Amino acid sequence: MSTQSSWGEGDFSRFICTANHGFAPYAQEELRRTFGAVKSTVLVPGEILLAGLPAAEEEVSVRLLQESPTFLRHIQPVQFQENTEDAAQSLDKLVAFILNHKELSGAKVVLQTRKTEASFWRENAASLKQALTEKLDELGCEWVIRDAEYVVSVFAADDMLYAGVSRPEQNLSDWSGGAVRFQKEEGQISRAKFKLLEAEQTFGIDFTSFHKALDIGAAPGGWTSFLLERGLEVTAVDPAKMDASLLASPKLTFLKKNAGDVRFREGEFDLLVCDMSWSPKLMSRLVSDLLYSLQSGGTAIVTVKLLHKKPLALIKEVIDTFERSRMQIQRSKQLFHNREEITLYMIKY
Ligand SMILES: C[S@@+](CC[C@H](N)C(=O)[O-])C[C@H]1O[C@@H](n2cnc3c(N)ncnc32)[C@H](O)[C@@H]1O
Repeated sequence: MSTQSSWGEGDFSRFICTANHGFAPYAQEELRRTFGAVKSTVLVPGEILLAGLPAAEEEVSVRLLQESPTFLRHIQPVQFQENTEDAAQSLDKLVAFILNHKELSGAKVVLQTRKTEASFWRENAASLKQALTEKLDELGCEWVIRDAEYVVSVFAADDMLYAGVSRPEQNLSDWSGGAVRFQKEEGQISRAKFKLLEAEQTFGIDFTSFHKALDIGAAPGGWTSFLLERGLEVTAVDPAKMDASLLASPKLTFLKKNAGDVRFREGEFDLLVCDMSWSPKLMSRLVSDLLYSLQSGGTAIVTVKLLHKKPLALIKEVIDTFERSRMQIQRSKQLFHNREEITLYMIKY
């Protein structure tokens, strides 16, 4: 079967939807809460779904951007579908589908290819991209990696080829599958730093606008090093050791203590971050008890560990606790670099 249309069909559209591994059921629940009925097929267990939604393509993106789901990381429209019994023929049909998109001519376009492990396309996704690009010369577009005007998304499933053309913002993330990649720096203290880098990018936070930060559960110091790099004064609290490379920094005060045993001046900080990797209930109580030290208008970034099997209920409970402490939730999101956790972005009123 071949389905080809330019922007979806009437009040029904289909998307390949991606979440962090193991969290697709919750992404699906978010879709169900937003759109009512969702018809879905699993493409990669726990991670990638093909979802049919009772709304037009443009409307799906607008509503998802408004609602900013926590677990749904990325969507890509399915306007082309072809089974791959004859792989060469399906690829030719895909090329014809893409060439038909005249708006791509002269535009900055990114081609994002993904595949399942058991895909009919045996080589890697990069080689699929290469093979397609070679056949798309006459499109006359400028192939780019970032800051594209259009995304051509191709998904090579086990025995099916899917594709769609969209604007990057319609996909919730302009990274292929929402997989945000940062280069590991030399001497980087922890991978945890990527979480704050991703929060900066995803939530559009300008960290250089803050002056004084409190980092709770700071060791070994990935987040602290990020905040120091952004020019902030940092008070780091952790009973564990901080990386020795940070300790000489004149802008760092390190309190080698449990966060329950520290006191600060009221409104001393304009930023509070916490990546304690602890029971979410205890974490939210402990952070709430320190929120007097965050100025009104100040920002908080907190990771919430998802310990048990009902993350949606758990997140609601944690959010309720923070809302009772004068925190307004800006975003609640499972970032690509979050594993069994989500990140909350809040502002104190
Ligand atoms: C995931 S690590 C933090 C990593 C850090 N964000 C980084 O970028 O390197 C969690 C830290 O929380 C600390 N922690 C756990 N409970 C704490 C508490 N009650 N008070 C302060 N720190 C605590 C642990 O000692 C551990 O170093």
